[in-house]
Amino acid sequence: MAIDPSFLDELNARSDIVDVVSRYVSLKKSGSNYFGLCPFHNEKSPSFSVSQDKQIFHCFGCGVGGGVLSFIMRAEGLEFYDAVSFLAKQYGMTVPENNYDNKTSKKRERLLELMKDTARFYYSELWKPENIKVQQYFVKRGLTRKTMNRFGLGFAPDSFFATMDAMTSKGYTKDELLTCGLISKSEKGNLFDKFRNRVMFPIFDLRGNVIAFGGRVMDDSKPKYLNSPETSIFHKSRNLFAIEKARKTSKDYFILAEGYMDVIALHQAGFDSAVASLGTALTEEQARLIARYTKNIIISYDADNAGQAASQRAIDILKKSGLNVRVLRIPNAKDPDQFIKEKGADAFRRLIEQSADDIAYKLNNIASKFDLEEDQDRISFLKEASYMLSFIDSDIEREIYTSRAANMAKISTQSMMIEVKKAVEKRKQALQKQKKREVRSAVDKAQPKDKTLKYENVNSARSEEEILLVIFGDNSLIGYLNGKISSEDFTSPILKAFFVHALELYKNGKNITIPAFEGYFDPEALSLLTNITSRPMPSMREKALDDSINNIKCRQMKNTDNYNDPLLAYAKARKENIFGGNRI
Ligand code: UTP
Ligand code: MN
Repeated sequence: MAIDPSFLDELNARSDIVDVVSRYVSLKKSGSNYFGLCPFHNEKSPSFSVSQDKQIFHCFGCGVGGGVLSFIMRAEGLEFYDAVSFLAKQYGMTVPENNYDNKTSKKRERLLELMKDTARFYYSELWKPENIKVQQYFVKRGLTRKTMNRFGLGFAPDSFFATMDAMTSKGYTKDELLTCGLISKSEKGNLFDKFRNRVMFPIFDLRGNVIAFGGRVMDDSKPKYLNSPETSIFHKSRNLFAIEKARKTSKDYFILAEGYMDVIALHQAGFDSAVASLGTALTEEQARLIARYTKNIIISYDADNAGQAASQRAIDILKKSGLNVRVLRIPNAKDPDQFIKEKGADAFRRLIEQSADDIAYKLNNIASKFDLEEDQDRISFLKEASYMLSFIDSDIEREIYTSRAANMAKISTQSMMIEVKKAVEKRKQALQKQKKREVRSAVDKAQPKDKTLKYENVNSARSEEEILLVIFGDNSLIGYLNGKISSEDFTSPILKAFFVHALELYKNGKNITIPAFEGYFDPEALSLLTNITSRPMPSMREKALDDSINNIKCRQMKNTDNYNDPLLAYAKARKENIFGGNRI
């Protein structure tokens, strides 16, 4: 771990998890714990709990859990080191500098400096007198100088070495340029600038660091845009274009557009809450990011078929994060940028006002596939609409849209209601079937949620979990285990690692708590540990330990029995198909 453990102890002691979580979730006290709506999945009744005594959070719904640092990592989308700095800042503490393995963060800082310097370089190139044509490109597209500066727009010169030379002369290494995706390597091994003769759009993270670039050609050549590749500082799926600006808006809604140019045009027209995904389809992470800042989102994708199909997908992803979704349709224009340029900001504001909510939008889309004057088409419409409407949870809402759909197809509300009811029943049955299937696979249920932590030996792992539960509840019982069981007896690598860390803490006279595991394990592993240690403590602890130890040893005997007999061992291995894996 990169950070001095005693600093982490101090940080954990000073920060109170209830305080910290309260900044993100409204919590109500009930008994000794606090409860609220889980910020990590969409839910209507609170299953997210925070324990002040244990300094942990835990969601019974989606299974995430951990200490205050895991919470910050998840809520702010930060790596461990950044989460520590983030929290330390709030409590007036500085993360110790003199740490030998501060290296990763130093490296990251240098890469960010490099990106910032590159953005400055592109900017200064843009404003060189000889590049007046490039400036004119932006002007022709309707951008003011203020907007260009606000978005840090620039120009990558038409050269294979200009960027590389400019940055290496500032002291950055070619390796660093490669790591940031600013230069590429040819098959022959020659290095050259990735972005050439393109107008440049810097992409910022939430804190305003430049983390990537999009570069556009100024003519019709292909590819229209080049984007920075995934790097250690840039994750396409976790960032949004202009989120660093939109987060500061005073509007109570965000606008989701498709392109960089759309977002810039929208901001210039006063819609300062516009964002866009980064050349890929919208992800759940991006939806959660938006949901951190607003409850309402208006999708404003291109008017073409691709844009409309993408809207349908985006609706479902955004709803999952609990957002109210509306969809805006742009008449006679291809995208928001063009519409605003031709019709102005007020006209766009009217489009926002007229935008349809997600269900109305879907209904319209279904209707547009059919000729509702034709009987056969009306029946098909009815079927498809009923299926879509059956997904609405609220009875009232479903009724309202059902009667709207009936009106559209000019049939009686009553018969439409019957059709929707049938669809709802069908869905309920399907759900029940699925639940039954889930119950049947009880073995799977005993597995950690995160598949990479999967147990090989579920039965033994159950007992290993029980041992962890008991020693978390009563640290002194570690002594009781002495000579009876060792970490070597654990079959699950992750549970074994937990146990080893617990022993280490105990040896150093520290308490065995979730916060003391932070930084040694990733958030998924900590969720698992929090789940295990949040179970009810067995009433007879020593007996529970004895039973668990017996069970683990007993499983071992069975296994060694098998492996003593080479034929049996072979048959067993064949059955478990472990030759393909890495066990033998
Ligand atoms: P658009 O083609 O709609 O781009 O693609 P745009 O922003 O409206 O650009 P203009 O108006 O033609 O200048 C939408 C987004 O898809 C990604 C970019 O993020 C772009 O903003 N994209 C598009 C690429 O990554 N590569 C491409 O070649 C094209
Ligand atoms: Mn466009």
